[in-house]
Formats: sequence, structure tokens, C-alpha cells
Amino acid sequence: MRLTIDGRNVEAAEGMSILQAAKTVGIEIPTLCYLEGISDIGSCRLCVVEVEGKNELVTACNTKAKEGMVVQTASERVIEARKTVLKLLLSNHNIDCFNCEKNGDCELQKYCNIYGIDTTPYFGSRGLLECEIPKKDAHPFLSYDQSKCIYCQRCVQTCRVATGRRAIKLRRTGKFTIIDAPFGDDWEETRCESCGNCAQACPTGALTIKRRKNYRPWEVKRVRTTCP
Ligand code: FES
Repeated sequence: MRLTIDGRNVEAAEGMSILQAAKTVGIEIPTLCYLEGISDIGSCRLCVVEVEGKNELVTACNTKAKEGMVVQTASERVIEARKTVLKLLLSNHNIDCFNCEKNGDCELQKYCNIYGIDTTPYFGSRGLLECEIPKKDAHPFLSYDQSKCIYCQRCVQTCRVATGRRAIKLRRTGKFTIIDAPFGDDWEETRCESCGNCAQACPTGALTIKRRKNYRPWEVKRVRTTCP
């Protein structure tokens, strides 16, 4: 099928999302909750784009590309919407970047930097409360800091789809939603098998591998591994 993205003709395969179609011609759309093959639940709204003929912006990660579609990924309206999304996410995020293990490797930090956001005018519905919630830190390898969680659910989806364990769950709804990460005192009773895939999937410093404290991202290099 053929469509137009940012004025460029794109040929996309049937079933592709706008995000995937854009990628085929090198157009990068920012994402936070999306993980290829694992999660396209559309919870963060950072990937919004404008589609000709639609009043509302749509999420590129889970909207299918269609024949003849005309898409704008970086219009003024789209950029403003993404800035608002980032400000809203920041309003519920403990901005303690200097002390965070993910400093320099945090996807929220990266996009805030790209879109020029360093503060938020919004008062988060859970921010202050969560900063007072102690870390779940009893697990020997993994740690969960709810005050840095943006509830993108990449960890939940990874634990469910990639490992089939379903050890991490989502509980409650709306502003009371919590990620039930099994890293408290009772972690040995849970289905967690300490694989660390959840921490790998986390875009912020909410879920981390404890030994990250010993290094900064710029001090290590990525290597291929046989670990799934
Ligand atoms: Fe599409 Fe989060 S990446 S909604």
C-alpha cells in the first residue's frame, strides 16, 4: 500500500502501523511505551501524529497505515502535543536525575532534552505522594522505585509476552493504578525468576538492575549476548 508521510511517498506492507511505515523511510517517531513485538498498548501518547481528515491526533504505534493516508509527524500541533505529554509525565515523575542510575540513559530524559522540557507547570496527581513511597529493594538484583515510574507498562508486557511469567502486574485503575513489581520482602514467593528483562525494558530509572549503581552508561559498551 502507498501513503504519504511528511511529504514522502512510502510503500508499506499490509498490517504495518504508521510508526513502522515511517521507519522504513528513516522517519523516527518518538515512543516511550512501545516495544517492537512486545507492546503497542498506546499508554504514553508520545508518538501522536496528524492524519489528514481526522480531527484528533492518533498514536502512530498502534494505528494501522492505510492506502492513501497523508500523515504529518512533526507539525506544530504534533510537537505541542508531545511537549504537553512530556510535561504531564514529568508532573508525576521524581526528577532526581543526578542521583538516578539511569541518568544519561533515560528515555524520558532524552525526549525532554530533545523537546526542550526541563520543568512542568502541572501538579501531578501522584507525584509528591510517590516520592515518599520507599523503593522495593529486597530483591538481590532488581529494584523498583515507583516515584520514577511513568506507568508505560513495558515491564508488565515484557514479563507477560517475552518471558511468560506474568510476575509483574497492573493493579487498580486511573490515577490509582500501580505496577505491582515483585521486588519487596516477599519476592521469593512470587513468579519472578530474576531474568532482568523488565529492567531492560523500563525507559526510566523506575525498574533497575542493582549493579547499575557501579557504573554509568557511558562507561560501558554494548555486546551481543546469547541470553534471551
Ligand atoms: Fe505510542 Fe506510547 S509509543 S502511545
